Amino acid sequence: MERPTPGDRPAEPAGGPLSRRALLAGGALAAGGVVAAGVAAVRGSTGDGPGPAPAPAAELGGLMVPFYGAHQAGVETPAQAHAAFVALDLAEGVDRAALRRMMLVLTDAAARLTQGRAPLADGQPELAHLPSRLTVTFGFGPRLFDVAGLAGRRPASLEQLPAFGIDRLQERWSGGDVLLQLCADDPLTVAHAQRMLVKDARSFATVRWVQRGFRRGRGMQGDGVTQRNVLGQLDGTGNPAPGTPAFAGAVWTDAGPAWLHGGTTVVVRRIRAELEAWDATGTAGKESAVGRRLSDGAPLTGRHELDEPDLTAKDAHGRPVIPELSHIARAQVGSDRLRIFRRAYNYDEPPAPDGTADSGLVFASFQRDVGEQFVPIQRRLAEADLMNEWITPIGSAVFAVPPGCAPGGWIGEGLLR
Ligand code: HEM
Repeated sequence: MERPTPGDRPAEPAGGPLSRRALLAGGALAAGGVVAAGVAAVRGSTGDGPGPAPAPAAELGGLMVPFYGAHQAGVETPAQAHAAFVALDLAEGVDRAALRRMMLVLTDAAARLTQGRAPLADGQPELAHLPSRLTVTFGFGPRLFDVAGLAGRRPASLEQLPAFGIDRLQERWSGGDVLLQLCADDPLTVAHAQRMLVKDARSFATVRWVQRGFRRGRGMQGDGVTQRNVLGQLDGTGNPAPGTPAFAGAVWTDAGPAWLHGGTTVVVRRIRAELEAWDATGTAGKESAVGRRLSDGAPLTGRHELDEPDLTAKDAHGRPVIPELSHIARAQVGSDRLRIFRRAYNYDEPPAPDGTADSGLVFASFQRDVGEQFVPIQRRLAEADLMNEWITPIGSAVFAVPPGCAPGGWIGEGLLR
């Protein structure tokens, strides 16, 4: 299986993590489809010779991710620092024609906001001027197809996930007819985009839940560096690398209903981490649970993060070096096409009055087909995974993510036109 580029190396290009050279010379940011807006503004004193100076904060705010394209942005896009996952429920009586109107309006607003332009009737248009790599990714939940009279066009395995023994699902974090995944490097940009889109959707839908998440701040690490989650683990190593055939074959749907070709599906699970119990566990126990070292993410059988885990290796006592019930042993799949792409965010809400943490992952996994890829992995993990001692799914939702659209088009046009 292909592995991503090393995640634990210092990936910053010379001149700093977000230097003008990186922006101009097709560095990591450009590779992610990012356009540097107002690059001229970064020119000027560099302080480190002829090379560029680190981009001032204002420049990060101007970065834009193209909205139009074959695929929706926000999947292959290097994950931004902040996210809001917003699930909407369609109102009574919203039929296919109404849904079409809603998607026309929302697409227009999203296209504007992601390019630093205020949507129509924006009471605070100045807030749109720093898009900060904003992406808006739309998804359609299983019930939408029934409500809108489109039951025959629902992808076969797009249904609420089967119940898993480890689940302690709460209604308030589960389900939903429409998903808005909003990601940007600035939390105010996310908040503004959320408010504008929810406002535009108001006559068609109500908000079912909002889950906010965060990763490392923009510029803290280079793009492509595997980030740590709230448990302190490097999280994302085993992902198919964006831009590779392995990624495309695992993520972009190429079978089933034609309207979804070039799209994907997303599973959003709110997974609580029992941080007090995790804190009380020693390093060896934590590493056995996942099968990788905490320090650098290397498999217990390897030296570097991207070394292939050797599930057959035995220790001096004849026991597997990577425990058979470790998270990575249980999550392994047989081929690239069966892999999933995890683009998770952390959450950290105010603790309980006794100080117990309310923290975990807003786990988002993209795959061509939920039933073929996600469900078998989740079933194995639910049956046995040492990590289960410290993690509990408390929310669950699935959505089909339509392909992107061209200028003048709108998201969902293949389904709703
Ligand atoms: C709070 C919940 C979870 C945590 C903290 C977590 C953590 C991790 C960590 C640390 C790794 C190893 C590094 C990496 O490859 O990213 C990993 C790998 C992986 N996880 Fe999870 N995980 C969670 C939930 C899930 C769920 C719900 C699934 C899917 C149902 C999943 C599927 C995978 C897969 C497929 C891999 C890669 C295995 C490979 O090496 O091929 N994880 N996870």
